[in-house]
Amino acid sequence: MTPEAAAKLLIDGQVVALPTETVYGLAADACNGEAVAKIYTIKQRPEFNPLIVHVLDIQHAEKFVVMSQLALKLAEKFWPGPLTMVLPLASDSKISSLVCAGLGTLAVRSPAHPIMRNIIKLSGKALAAPSANPSGRISPTSAQHVEYMFKNKIPVVDGGNCTVGIESTIIDLSHETPTVLREGIITKSQLEQVVGPINEYNPDGTITSPGQMLQHYAPRKPLHINSTMGGSKVGVLAFGPIIPDDAYVCLNLSEKRDLEEAASNLFHMLHQLDNADIEEIHAMPIPNSGIGIAINDRLRRAATR
Ligand code: TXA
Ligand code: MG
Repeated sequence: MTPEAAAKLLIDGQVVALPTETVYGLAADACNGEAVAKIYTIKQRPEFNPLIVHVLDIQHAEKFVVMSQLALKLAEKFWPGPLTMVLPLASDSKISSLVCAGLGTLAVRSPAHPIMRNIIKLSGKALAAPSANPSGRISPTSAQHVEYMFKNKIPVVDGGNCTVGIESTIIDLSHETPTVLREGIITKSQLEQVVGPINEYNPDGTITSPGQMLQHYAPRKPLHINSTMGGSKVGVLAFGPIIPDDAYVCLNLSEKRDLEEAASNLFHMLHQLDNADIEEIHAMPIPNSGIGIAINDRLRRAATR
């Protein structure tokens, strides 16, 4: 589908799957409650799990949220790009309450993908968009992933493979000290260089972002993490030059141990292994630093049943 056709559908209150640099999103006009309700139905997403709103830039975001000094600094450094900020709702915000699931805060992000940006411009809408996968399945990083998971029932704009490959980093700026709610390719230490100390992830053990629920992004096949095992009917998700020599199928996240490359391959390879003729998936250990923290977070969730 063309960006122009997608923009028309969005203006019309329909749902369309769109490319972003992180993962594909299932988008609807964030100010149209009926349109947003369709996202929840299509994804079978629990309604207490709020959505991210995609905007063009800071000015656009300010129609919906109150941008603090810290938020402005972060936006100047990382927007457009894979950073989502949770901020207090503006008092005159026209966002549907379904988007923020009744919370007084809203998650906003300015995506970098040129097609996504063009569709925001063409439609003139802020777009609510969760990842375009049925709830609990692996996030899509190509138009084909969306098509097969939704059995061709959702219109998709094909923008090629996502370059980042994992979802945006989420920082909550609605409290005095910022908290990272979801790790991503923009790391906590990169954020700290701009805003100073950031709270530890989920310090009191309560779920502050519903997306922190452990089971998420799950393949249908059992996934074992930190494994160096191969074997018959085992699909290995490898990392680095040394791989088990008896793997039935082996896909390498990054032979040269490049974590950015590994992130961009992660969901694509999990989709491939999930559809391969194997019985279980074994993921090799990934160093738990830098972008590796986000990759391990996704793998841990994918391994939880
Ligand atoms: O990269 C991304 O962020 C992709 C693309 C499409 O932009 N979107 C994405 O959306 O990953 P989703 O719905 O799969 O994840 C959104 C996360 C959820 O974990 C949700 O709980 C959290 O954002 N979230 C949204 N609004 C929130 C809020 N007001 N407070 C706390 N967490 C929020
Ligand atoms: Mg998601």
